[in-house]
Amino acid sequence: PPSLPVIALVAYLLGSIPFGLLLTAMSGQGDIRRIGSGNIGATNVLRTGRKGLAAATLFLDAFKGLLAVLLAEALSPHNTALCLSVAGCAVVLGHCFPIWLGFRGGKGVATGIGVFWGMCWPVGLLCTILWLAGVRLSKISSVGALLAFLAAPFLMVAFSLAPIMSARPIAAALITLLILLRHYGNIARLCSGTEPRVGQK
Ligand code: G3P
Repeated sequence: PPSLPVIALVAYLLGSIPFGLLLTAMSGQGDIRRIGSGNIGATNVLRTGRKGLAAATLFLDAFKGLLAVLLAEALSPHNTALCLSVAGCAVVLGHCFPIWLGFRGGKGVATGIGVFWGMCWPVGLLCTILWLAGVRLSKISSVGALLAFLAAPFLMVAFSLAPIMSARPIAAALITLLILLRHYGNIARLCSGTEPRVGQK
């Protein structure tokens, strides 16, 4: 079976596939990094007006998160919880800091939620619900994302039945920290009341 660094590397490379960038470029919409917030995620792809492309980006970005965790679980040489937690962090890192784009990638929301589905599906489900509810109520994508990820470490402790200082809750907390870091600009705009609503350019 592959070693932990190999699992981490595979997960990182999987995460670094920029589906939003590829799909928008392939469908003739140009470079997504020059549109709206400049982010490569589904929220920004929606700003092109192409709902199908945004949905495909959301699905594929989440799927690569789920896949990285499931692969790690299947291939784990020893401590399964540790392997899938490392893979979960690595795939989100890959999405946020892809080697192909000079380490300037996305914000990790869809990929992180995909990871939670793989690590502990009730947490994935609840984060998806919190994210959707947050977006629906506020009409702002980042609000739903922040709500879901702030809850995630607590949900992981509650539903994975793992001790607080163990692999899954620590991974969830690290992923949340990364998401907060990547939403620095969004948080600043939320504070100043200038964060755009969903679909708004
Ligand atoms: O998924 C990222 C979302 O929370 C914010 O995206 O493009 O509005 O910065 P964006």
